[in-house]
Amino acid sequence: MTKGLFITVEGPEGAGKSTILSELYQQLKQDGLDVVQTREPGGISIAEQIRKVILNTDNTEMDMRTEALLYAAARRQHLVEKVIPALNEGKVVICDRFIDSSLAYQGNARGIGMEEVMNINQFAIEDRMPDLTLYFDIDPEEGLKRIAKHNGREVNRLDLESMDFHTRVWDGYQKLIKQYPDRIQVIDASKSKEAVLADAYEIVTGYLNK
Ligand code: TMP
Repeated sequence: MTKGLFITVEGPEGAGKSTILSELYQQLKQDGLDVVQTREPGGISIAEQIRKVILNTDNTEMDMRTEALLYAAARRQHLVEKVIPALNEGKVVICDRFIDSSLAYQGNARGIGMEEVMNINQFAIEDRMPDLTLYFDIDPEEGLKRIAKHNGREVNRLDLESMDFHTRVWDGYQKLIKQYPDRIQVIDASKSKEAVLADAYEIVTGYLNK
């Protein structure tokens, strides 16, 4: 058994999770916790290289199962190279996206099926599910509007999908919330940045002090 705590952060596009995650990381560090902030796909060199292939807007031919396998491959390498060693050292790992993204995006939105995507991911994660997941809930239309306003952000291949696709992503997350009510904690991401950060901090510290 690992000693640390594995926290993942999830949500549709434009939920603002990456900004909040950086501030949450700073707060937890100030509290004296040994925290690692990382992301998927990426977080280490091999997975960042896979990220470039998956998200490249030129790769329009990519088959949806290839896409699912590439996310799972990046996940595997990141898990064994970075996440598990940090957990074994007793650290708190906060990861921007993990398996729920594959279940919502590839499983539900692409239509491969959530169970099928879970099966290929089992090969990659060998049962290493997150201890706690913060789900930043935002109406998909509102989320895409926020991205459009956010000029500096890179536009990736998945951002270019239709509104229907992003609605199916949101719908996939709703199914996951029902399936994993203990693990997934829902945060209303339509609130102010300060309020969302306060909610995230309260959930994490509440979990740590349990
Ligand atoms: P990001 O914008 O949060 O960095 O995530 C990159 C994109 O990859 C985002 O559109 C969500 C998508 N994604 C999946 O479709 N499946 C996955 O398993 C992961 C981790 C991300």
